[in-house]
Amino acid sequence: MNPYLKHDEWCIIEEGFVPENTRASESIFSIGNGAMGQRANFEEKFSGSTLQGSYIGGVFYPDKTRVGWWKNGYPEYFAKVINSTNWIGIDVLVNGMELDLAKCKVQDFRRVLNMKEGYLERSFIAEMENGVKVAVQSTRFLSMVDTELGAIRYSVKPLNANATIELRPYLDADVHNEDSNYGEKFWEVVDIKGTPIFSYIVSRTKKLDFHVGHAMRSFLYMNGKQQILQPQVNTSAMFVDNRFTVDATAGDEVTLYKYAAVISSLNHEKGTFPKALEKLIETAISKGFNKMLDEQRIAWTEIWRHSDITIEGDIAAQQGIRFNIFQLSQTYTGKDERLNIGPKGFTGEKYGGSTYWDTEAYCLPFYMVTHGQKVARQLLLYRYKQLDKAIENAQKLGFSNGAALYPMVTMNGEECHNEWEITFEEIHRNGAIAFAIYNYVRYTGDKSYLVNFGLEVLIGIARFWAQRINFSQEKGKYVMLGVTGPNEYENNVNNNWYTNTIACWCMEYAEEVAMYVKSSNPAKFSEMVKSINFDEAKEIAKWREIRANMFFPVDNKLGIFLQQEGYMDKDQILVKDLDPKERPLNQKWSWDRILRSCFIKQADVLQGLYFLEDRFDSDTIKRNYEFYEARTVHESSLSPCVHSVLASRIGIVDKAYELYLRTARLDLDDYNHEVREGLHITSMAGTWISIVEGFGGIRVRDNILNFNPLIPDKWKSFSFKVWFRENVLKIVVSNAQITIQNEDGPSITIKIYGVEQTVSTASSISVPVQKQVF
Ligand code: BGC
Repeated sequence: MNPYLKHDEWCIIEEGFVPENTRASESIFSIGNGAMGQRANFEEKFSGSTLQGSYIGGVFYPDKTRVGWWKNGYPEYFAKVINSTNWIGIDVLVNGMELDLAKCKVQDFRRVLNMKEGYLERSFIAEMENGVKVAVQSTRFLSMVDTELGAIRYSVKPLNANATIELRPYLDADVHNEDSNYGEKFWEVVDIKGTPIFSYIVSRTKKLDFHVGHAMRSFLYMNGKQQILQPQVNTSAMFVDNRFTVDATAGDEVTLYKYAAVISSLNHEKGTFPKALEKLIETAISKGFNKMLDEQRIAWTEIWRHSDITIEGDIAAQQGIRFNIFQLSQTYTGKDERLNIGPKGFTGEKYGGSTYWDTEAYCLPFYMVTHGQKVARQLLLYRYKQLDKAIENAQKLGFSNGAALYPMVTMNGEECHNEWEITFEEIHRNGAIAFAIYNYVRYTGDKSYLVNFGLEVLIGIARFWAQRINFSQEKGKYVMLGVTGPNEYENNVNNNWYTNTIACWCMEYAEEVAMYVKSSNPAKFSEMVKSINFDEAKEIAKWREIRANMFFPVDNKLGIFLQQEGYMDKDQILVKDLDPKERPLNQKWSWDRILRSCFIKQADVLQGLYFLEDRFDSDTIKRNYEFYEARTVHESSLSPCVHSVLASRIGIVDKAYELYLRTARLDLDDYNHEVREGLHITSMAGTWISIVEGFGGIRVRDNILNFNPLIPDKWKSFSFKVWFRENVLKIVVSNAQITIQNEDGPSITIKIYGVEQTVSTASSISVPVQKQVF
């Protein structure tokens, strides 16, 4: 842990300059707008340790696969999220000496991420090697309104001497990725132009030919008055800057406004970039910095109106959840169905490709409940559009007849993950994609999705499972061999309970949806039967037979589902008996030792109980929870949230709270010593789940919203919003009562602790909080 940030309800605050924290802060203070993102790199030069990161949604590089032992079926490349042209840079020279915080005495350093209004601020005083002390202040944001624009206000004030200040805003396309497999640079410049009033660079990726364009225009002010200055222009092969020089007396404030436009060939025709960039820069100038910032505030107010969670009596928890909501909301806005939510979002390089099962298993509920049905539907459509590639992917591995295996990691539908035990074996991901369709329809009631898109995906997935199992003569049952469950600390196991369970569930749901589409829209159904060659009677009969005869490992003595066959042969040691010095295991133990141990990386059996909770009684959930929680080291950020929801479900609120805190402040307090690589964006959605589904206890059953809230002792109250179909409800839970307010929409019938209640338009109801909720 490295808890160096101040607790505050709406802001993330760093005080004091500690160079060792620079990379961590660059991740934590990242800004984004759904279309692009930017790590909190300094505008001015910094020769200390830094990870430069400026990322554009959907622009990636197929970096040639690098593995020790090539296996047939491996993808040729790993999709990298790429660091692109640096648009934030402003070199600062004071009496000819470059400002570089690694070479100055730094005082009063303060960095603030204003989450309420969506911008980043930084201020400090630097005593430079030439003896001049300067006070610097910067504010920057990526516009949520004009999603191709960013703006920076950067002020320098000499404090103890008159000084010549030179500010050089620049664009630099000569950038690289630290994680490039072969040290290759990914970009080349196709067009570059520098003039005093408009400069741009258009570059292209050396593979796939993505084009991106960056433009800038800057204005200089002295003590609030614009200076009519012609900046000098300096252009080289991949770099352009504008140089503004002024003589300032001590106490004068020299301020630069830099507007930047960032576009890509996802949204613009190649060849039209200069015109498009010019138009964007004109928009920025005509609005000006303050108006753009006002619009940013309004946009964020609107986001918070639907998504805010308040926690009274616990600032650390309050800051944690707002940070998670903020980062999720600036990573994905649902405006473009080609984009998705990478595990690191726009905050780092690690994990490369954008889409993992994290999206369906963890992120969907957050966007569905706080950003609305349309945004959630975009996430489902992303997979629908990639169905053909999932079928191709399965074919490459030897499956046939339209069986679909979605990739473990992807950018465009193609698999790009290359560890055999994950790429070929962590196939449970298919289950999460089917489950997301179910989850979406259950919540929104949008059955048209099933007719137009969902069924095709579900059939592809069911076909895969039906081919992936085999019949064991010895057991007289169907089995699933050679898989990796969600717990990646076990590979190549037989009959992982979760995978077998979700596979059977997929076949059951595919049948149910097929019957629904057949009866509700027979014409569409027969069209689909033809187009995908669906032998309804035969295929459904096979799915049923498999479900009826599937093998599920259990331990009858303990009354638990077994993670996989043979799990009980392992030395049964509990996490509480591990020497804390040995943790995290993945940094302290050999892989061999981890694989042979009983320790579990992340929810596995419990993932199944979480998804399919209504099929299991409370005692079964409790027995499994207690058994597996005692053996789980939570070394995936995706783990504590599932355990937290289940702990709430069985009423162990203290434990639910402990697990919640671990997920909510994972990055802010750097629990796993890795935040410098980027934030855990997808697990942030899990934090939200811990509150809304965990403490709030919301569930949808038979088209009705159910609430079964409980409240951690430490909290006085908490509140959250739920956008459910036509209604926006605000739920406030205190130690004494739960109040549900119908903020928007018609009268609605809900259930609180199993009792039906009607909340009329613009009114609220309250009932006492219970201790034992289910
Ligand atoms: C987890 C996976 C997850 C991936 C990306 C891994 O550490 O085990 O379940 O999909 O991270 O977040």
